[in-house]
Amino acid sequence: MRHVSDQRTTPADITAAAVNSFEGCEDPRLRELMQALVRHLHAFAEEVVLSQAEWGRMIEVLTATGHITDDRRQEFILWSDTLGLSMLVDAIANPLPGGATESTVLGPFYVPGAPEREYGETMAGEPAGTPAWVHGRVLDTDGAPIAGAELDVWQNGDDQLYAVQRPEAPEDHLRGRYRTREDGSYAFLAVRPVPYPIPYDGPVGRMLSATGRHPWRPAHIHMIVRAPGYETLTTHIFDGESDYLGSDAVFAVKPSLVREFVERSLDDPERPPGLDGPWVSVANDLVLAPSVKLS
Ligand code: BEZ
Ligand code: FE
Repeated sequence: MRHVSDQRTTPADITAAAVNSFEGCEDPRLRELMQALVRHLHAFAEEVVLSQAEWGRMIEVLTATGHITDDRRQEFILWSDTLGLSMLVDAIANPLPGGATESTVLGPFYVPGAPEREYGETMAGEPAGTPAWVHGRVLDTDGAPIAGAELDVWQNGDDQLYAVQRPEAPEDHLRGRYRTREDGSYAFLAVRPVPYPIPYDGPVGRMLSATGRHPWRPAHIHMIVRAPGYETLTTHIFDGESDYLGSDAVFAVKPSLVREFVERSLDDPERPPGLDGPWVSVANDLVLAPSVKLS
């Protein structure tokens, strides 16, 4: 006769079974990640008393996320960005080194291989807004200049778009790589950035509107700063007069990264060559932390 037990299976039994299923995993880090993931996922379902209909809706959302994602559109990262996870992972990876410039999110519009440009050269391949003279020095945490550091810069134009979003735009429009001089100084001609919405025509956009959130990012210029012997810094310059500084859709504003874009006149003696209309300038020193990697 078959043995019939009247023992009941509880939610805790199910969680324990799923956690224990990874006990034989030989990679200790993978085991830790998978067991913690299961514990937290189960705790979430229990906390909100997840219904089967809600579970089904979650699967639909993940499926739609997969369908819209391709080489150019990364909806999974957009989920991570809009849920604050990208910034949290960045904060964990880059604990605040004394005095170093803070990092922030990379975003989906970075394309490696921007052209190398001269000190002060414009990044704009066509008119794209009010010219902005961006200048400063790259320093170490003791205040010593770092010569030969690379600033890999990209930004959107006054149409709210990055060149990579516009197939008809010149390929190297609004992006460039600049090097610091012997005294650590750099300068480039950008345009004053404008706020823009993150892509909102997919599942992330539907989540934002269903929850009463907006998709806007405050005006900013992106840069990655690299120098041998220093940690690579991925950061932004935010325009202090921009809308949305207090409600960035991806939680990437850090007060220390907000700068004043100063309006300058045409007869200003510091006017960069070639400008024949209104312009602005922004001073932005960058401080790199020493590399933690053993070389
Ligand atoms: C960006 O600043 O380019 C960006 C960051 C996160 C999501 C979308 C855009
Ligand atoms: Fe951006």
